[in-house]
This record gives sequence, structure tokens and C-alpha cells, in this order.
Amino acid sequence: MKVLIVGSGGREHALAWKFSQSKRLDGLWVIPGNGGTKSLAQNLPDLQPNDTAGMVRAARELGIELVFIGPEVPLAAGLVDALNQAGVAAIGPHKEAAQLESSKIFTKEFLLKHGIPTAQAHTFSDRKSFDDFVRTLEGLWVVKKSGLAAGKGVLESDKQEEILAFGHHALKDDSVVVEEFLEGYEVSIFTLSDGKTYKLLPAATDYKKAGVANTGPNTGGMGAISPVPWLSKALLAQIDNDLVKPVFKALEAEGLMYKGILYFGLMITTKGPKILEFNVRFGDPEAQVLIPRIQNDFCTLFEAVAQGRLSEHEIIVSDQAALGVVLAAEGYPNAYKKDLPVTTSFSNHEADRLLFHSGTKLGAEGLRTSGGRVFTCVGLGADPLEAREKAYSIIDEVRFDGAWYRQDIGANIYNH
Ligand code: AMP
Ligand code: GLY
Repeated sequence: MKVLIVGSGGREHALAWKFSQSKRLDGLWVIPGNGGTKSLAQNLPDLQPNDTAGMVRAARELGIELVFIGPEVPLAAGLVDALNQAGVAAIGPHKEAAQLESSKIFTKEFLLKHGIPTAQAHTFSDRKSFDDFVRTLEGLWVVKKSGLAAGKGVLESDKQEEILAFGHHALKDDSVVVEEFLEGYEVSIFTLSDGKTYKLLPAATDYKKAGVANTGPNTGGMGAISPVPWLSKALLAQIDNDLVKPVFKALEAEGLMYKGILYFGLMITTKGPKILEFNVRFGDPEAQVLIPRIQNDFCTLFEAVAQGRLSEHEIIVSDQAALGVVLAAEGYPNAYKKDLPVTTSFSNHEADRLLFHSGTKLGAEGLRTSGGRVFTCVGLGADPLEAREKAYSIIDEVRFDGAWYRQDIGANIYNH
């Protein structure tokens, strides 16, 4: 089977690593790829994930049988629709369903229409009605830009002036959602669908803030853990019953079913679990910890997804825990340096220690940094603490100037 992966992060390196273990793989390409995928696949660095026509052409010329799209931007731009029209199978939502991630207003209306638990919200597209509403607010509220914002589109605040400033900036080119602040703790659930039915994938959660104990600015995610130690079997069953099943029923009713991943971002409140957001893809760095736990052959599993035969397969999940720590460039998530030389002797061939490249490139000058999140160091172990020890042990084996990481990923495993 000839497979093409779209994206350039740690998530795509983890996907390439997993697909490359399949005996059924005849060829693997990554657009544009990174320094890590280069050792497993053929990178096509001249193509970018926003070049829909170029990617469809490449897929046809290479005889690709399955395209796996990692990031949200090409999905929102309609890459799956274009590939399917050209007769190429793809994993990911069509453009209409991609709005479940790319439009918070679309999603809020979808959830409210179908009576699915979520935060109460008000939406605005003009400054006057937004200002009038905000002037009536007291206490803590959450303001969100409706469209894609790479993790930077949400503000929690109890200060009217701060809410107004954030909203005015967002209203320049987008609509805004103002939501009640939900107290509780967060869990992410990943599902896989073939457009007919769905299965739960291993749960994972990321650590979003830059600073220890969840302080400081938001990032794309500085670490992740799977399974989620504070997600009990009973809670998972409740989430499946009260949220996941109704969502898939509603997707079916609205003609929004698709072949791919649907990620539920949840807040567990005293009144039960509620939906904060959907992502229509794997999270990054969540993918780097949950993919190594899935035992299924990815060519076989995703071929079945593409052909609407997921019901023939069980998702086989390892008992091992996985924990990932992101190694970032100095300055991230604000402006950061790039093109720094990296030295590492780590070969990524150990069973329980995996080094996924996120923002790297490999050229004539050797391995260099090319992004803000540079690596995800993943440890696997009999329990989360062993996984944590293994993950942190990799950090000493990778060097670049100004590298930093959160020291407390998984420190809350038993005291959440
Ligand atoms: P979102 O992109 O909607 O998932 O929001 C990003 C993050 O903001 C979430 O992971 C939560 O940590 C926080 N957040 C979003 N909405 C709410 C809410 N209604 N109440 C409390 N926290 C929220
Ligand atoms: N780690 C969160 C995301 O990928 O959106």
C-alpha cells in the first residue's frame, strides 16, 4: 500500500513511524515532512499543506492509495473533497465537517440544536452588540475567536476591558463567542469513524500552558499522557453514552459523518461532562503518546476506515502507559530562534523510548531546528511513572541552544 502523510510535526512523525512498521507498506511519502520523517519516508518539502492542487497532483502521480492528513488547515481548505474527487482515498473530514473545528459558531449551533451538553454561549459579529453585552458581564468568562487560531484564540478573563480588547481584535476578521466559564478538569477523547460507525481510541490529554503547574501562556501543548490517569472506566462509559453517542447520531442526522479522527475536548464539571471543542484530527502532542499504544497495523486499520469496514476491526491497545515531553526553542510560544544546530546520538530504535521530531529539518548542514516545538520525547512503561522517567531520560541525549521543557509533565498523575 502506498501512503502519503500531510504535515510536518511530531504527530506526522509518529504517524510515519507507525505506518512504516506495516508489512503491507509499499511506499511512504510525507508533505512536507521534517528531519525525523526523512529517515522513514520520502519527504516532499517543495509542496506545502496549503497547496491543495499540488498535493492532489502528487498523490495521483505517485499512485497513492491512502492520504492521511495531520493538521487542521488543509482539512478546513477542503483537501479531502479534492482528493476524493480525484479518486484518492483520504483520512480526514470533508470541508463541511471540518467546520466542527474551524468554526466555533458552527459547532456551538450544532451542539445546542441537538441538546448536547456544552457551555452556554452568545455569539457576535459586530462590535456594538458585543460591547453592549460585555458591559453587562460580571465574574469569569471565556471569549473565543470563531475561526482557526492555532491555540491562541481563547481568553479567560474577569476584566471587561481585557475582554473588549481581545474581542475587538478578533472581530476585525472573524466572529466571537462569549461563553460561561466551566469549572472542572479537562479530558480529551479520541474517536475513529469510517463514516458509518465509530470506535474509541486510547484517551490522551495534553498540558497546554508553557509554565509549570499550568501557568503562563497557552501553547500547542508542552506534553501529553495516555491513558489519562484521572479518567476512570465509569467516567469513560458516561462520556461515551452521554456525549459521544449523541454526537455521532447528530452528525449522521446532519450528513456530517466522515472517515477520520474526531477529538472531543471535554470539561468534567460537577454537573457532568460537557463539550468544550472538537478537533477533526489527532492532537499534537497527543498523537505521539496514543499512536504508540495502538497495536493494530495502520495500513490494515485505515484501509478498513477508507472502505467503510471499521466494524470488522477491534482497536487493540497496549497496557503500557505513554508520556511525552516537548522540547521547545527559546522564546516559544512567542518569537523564537530557528535554524539552530541539533546534536543527538539518539536513533529512535528503542522499544520504550521514542524521539519524535516536531520542528526539525535535515539537510547538507545536518539536523537543524525549524519550529517552536522541536521534539517530543516519549517514554513507555508499565505505569505512568515509569513512562515519565523514560521520557525525561531522553532529554539529556538531545542538545540545541536554548532548549527548554516543562519539568512537571505527569507530576500530577496521582494527585490530580
Ligand atoms: P478551546 O479551543 O475551545 O478548546 O479552548 C482552549 C482552552 O480554553 C480549553 O482547553 C480550556 O482550557 C479553556 N476553555 C475553553 N472554553 C472554556 C470554558 N467554557 N470554561 C473553562 N475553560 C474553557
Ligand atoms: N494539542 C492540542 C492540539 O493539537 O490542538
